[in-house]
Amino acid sequence: MENISNIIYKKPEDNLEEIRGKKVGSHEITIVDPDNPENWRSKVNFEYVSRPLPHYYLHTLDTDLAERGQRYASKVMDEFEALLHKTKRLGFLEDGIELNDPAYGMYERRGWRKLDEHGIYMFDPRPGHYSEPAMQEMINRYT
Ligand SMILES: CC(C)(COP(=O)(O)OP(=O)(O)OC[C@H]1O[C@@H](n2cnc3c(N)ncnc32)[C@H](O)[C@@H]1OP(=O)(O)O)[C@@H](O)C(=O)NCCC(=O)NCCS
Repeated sequence: MENISNIIYKKPEDNLEEIRGKKVGSHEITIVDPDNPENWRSKVNFEYVSRPLPHYYLHTLDTDLAERGQRYASKVMDEFEALLHKTKRLGFLEDGIELNDPAYGMYERRGWRKLDEHGIYMFDPRPGHYSEPAMQEMINRYT
């Protein structure tokens, strides 16, 4: 676990959750209250998948109800996207932001590409790096 000011990055082995009797780990980036680090403000959970192309799949992005509208989710996404750039891995997610949420549309505004009508989005830190068939096989996994 690495702490950088108010941003905490947990690796799957340090972030285990029991799901149907099985311990499952996920990566997590959390923004916390620096004066009270057990109070989280916004967090993102994601997993690493190596095939068909190395990528991270974002499972949840959540800001505490009382803390919304203060750009905490944007900061968490900045960190997540910085990791995608650093590791040169693709990012995928299914947009679950409700139409009446003021944050609606934030992934597109951040440069994520909408892949289908179900709201599957992709972030590519190295456009043009993979061949078109390889990228299509990757996209087909989620769409
Ligand atoms: C979606 C969610 C994570 C956004 O969290 P947040 O911390 O409020 O988001 P931010 O403050 O960083 O704002 C994100 C964007 O929404 C806009 N926004 C947020 N609240 C706003 C408000 N009250 N008025 C106007 N714009 C607002 C911001 O300006 C920003 O816009 P930008 O993309 O143009 O920069 C939060 O609403 C949430 O937890 N919702 C429930 C769970 C959910 O839907 N998660 C996503 C699953 S994919």
